[in-house]
Amino acid sequence: MTATQGRVRPRAIGTPLDRLDGRAKVTGSARYAYEQPVGEPVYLHAVQATVARGRITGIDTEAAAAVPGVLAVLTHRNAPRLADTRDAELAVLQSDAVAFRGQFVGGVVATTSEAARYAASLVRTTYDTQPHDSVLRPDRDDLYAPESVNGGFATDTEQGDVEAALASAAVTVDQTYTTAMNHNNPMEPHTTVAVWNDGELTLYESTQGVHMVRSQVAPLFGLQPDEVHVVSPFVGGGFGSKGTPHAPVVLAAMAARLVPGRAVRFALTRPQMFFVAGYRTPTVQHIRLGADRGGRLTAISVDAVSQTSRIKEFAEQTAVAARMMYAAPHRRTTHRLARLDVPVPSWMRAPGECPGMFAAEVAMDELAEACGLDPVELRIRNEPATDPETGRPFSSRNLVACLREGARRIGWERREQAPRSRREAGHLVGLGVAASVYPVFWMPGSSATVRAGAGGRYTVSIGAADLGTGTWTALAQIAADALEVPVERVELRIGDTAFPPASVAGGSSGITAWGSAVVHAARRLRETYGNAPPDGAEATGETGDNPATERFAMYAFGAQFAEVRVDEETGEVRVPRLVGVFAAGCVINPKTARSQLVGGMTMGLSMALHEESHVDGRLGQVANHDLAEYHIAANADVGDIDVSWIDEDDPHVNPMGSKGIGEIGIVGTAAAVANAAHNATGVRVRDLPITLDKLL
Ligand code: MOS
Repeated sequence: MTATQGRVRPRAIGTPLDRLDGRAKVTGSARYAYEQPVGEPVYLHAVQATVARGRITGIDTEAAAAVPGVLAVLTHRNAPRLADTRDAELAVLQSDAVAFRGQFVGGVVATTSEAARYAASLVRTTYDTQPHDSVLRPDRDDLYAPESVNGGFATDTEQGDVEAALASAAVTVDQTYTTAMNHNNPMEPHTTVAVWNDGELTLYESTQGVHMVRSQVAPLFGLQPDEVHVVSPFVGGGFGSKGTPHAPVVLAAMAARLVPGRAVRFALTRPQMFFVAGYRTPTVQHIRLGADRGGRLTAISVDAVSQTSRIKEFAEQTAVAARMMYAAPHRRTTHRLARLDVPVPSWMRAPGECPGMFAAEVAMDELAEACGLDPVELRIRNEPATDPETGRPFSSRNLVACLREGARRIGWERREQAPRSRREAGHLVGLGVAASVYPVFWMPGSSATVRAGAGGRYTVSIGAADLGTGTWTALAQIAADALEVPVERVELRIGDTAFPPASVAGGSSGITAWGSAVVHAARRLRETYGNAPPDGAEATGETGDNPATERFAMYAFGAQFAEVRVDEETGEVRVPRLVGVFAAGCVINPKTARSQLVGGMTMGLSMALHEESHVDGRLGQVANHDLAEYHIAANADVGDIDVSWIDEDDPHVNPMGSKGIGEIGIVGTAAAVANAAHNATGVRVRDLPITLDKLL
């Protein structure tokens, strides 16, 4: 069955239903991983390396072991041997080598979390220290080209003759932009409860995908996938850091092996989140644009540099969005990596598009300025008729409508083209715009089961995840419409490997993948049993292939507008207004969707003004590794965020006609703020975050 074989007739879809899990969450009855009832649990606390590179020469665990309540002290000497050590990030405690500061070198299991934590502080480790290199410098001569970049995209692309086009362009922009290292900090840190029973492993895990955890953890312990059970009904955010397993789940499962039958509870502390849970690499992007005097692009060139770790490669796909965003006959993109003695970078909300569209959209603002053109108009002039990279038509592309609606909502006509020309009460005021984009990824391999119950009720089961995104509600709405029953008659079951396999909540693909499986299951049930299936009747549906992905370029688009006010005396930057208008297909639930987009834009504002992990090159670690020093936008930093979307009918993306909305909200926000700051002050900030020292 194909994705587009018939559309779901919307009834529940499109209604702003309150979160079905809202009451349980606000009353505290929703149990997160750490809170699962597991008898009499014991507690794990990790011991971390205090050097950035070297070998462990000695670990003294005597004092730790003597602490009352301590049951076991785990080091590389006594840790269970893993069956598969190919993923060096997950090969926890398998050797004496230290590859980055903060890496796990041990763990203490005790009857209380306090005893475990105290005892962990008593473990004394000595090292044979080696020189380390932990700071990304773009001028180094050992940058290398990875085989591909995150998402499986080509490392480099080249179409036409960029150098010749740039040499003959009437107008050019040639600038370097940098984005800061950022750390995922969901409210709920990474938590695991692990318990072994009869050789099988159960994990209560805060994760973006229970089946993903199962498939990656099972081989480490030499288990078959069905010998690992993963349960994760509620998750307090992830932003990508819970989209792949990291070292903590492995350490917890190892520790639990030492106390069979007893559950080991493990939660990272907030500071530990800055070492072992992934992060967004810093980027350095050299962008060159060539255009005619009317602002029509002739050439786009993006050379992106980011960092990876010594032990495992992660290649941020920073330049990928530039390949499809605007019409330009001559285009090239490259990605290069510096391999450093640092923790392994990973996914953070819109990896690739988020840093990439910061640089590209500030460069577009610079081009508009160089051409004397309105930046909205510049973007409209460079709309491609088809995907410039593949030549395929877009399944739908409504960036222009978003730009026009956003301009109307923010009052763009009041923007002065010349920077530094609007002053209000001691503040320089400016407006800025940037475009957003996010791909519609198709992830095959999910399946869902629909079972008819008494009284026209249905149970829908799939191992999907709700990170706080609204899955519990939106998926129930999709099921209700596919079954043509009110949503109250649908009981959804997610977040457990006991349910049919589901792809990971990543790449904003969850609702597309899981919703398609649910729709197919519901249709199969109705095809087999008609409108009134007997109690106990059941059908399963799969997310197979969507042939339309071969024919169309599929993306969600958006336009971000910012109003920035800069204090003339102090340089303090405030953003009283953000306007985001999106074209993301059918919106399943306007209430939860709006929250996703507001959340993404808030995170983009935070990236623009605050977030920066500072690496101390001497120690080889992030110095500001807690929320006191790693600044995240607080409530008082966030002004009015106006989110809306335009009606968009896309019959190709999936049976619901929906596009992912989890990530697009962060894309372009920081560029809109930077462009507004330039319009306000005349100062072009090309390096995030936009702190006051850069504006004075
Ligand atoms: Mo998202 S960063 O793809 O989990």
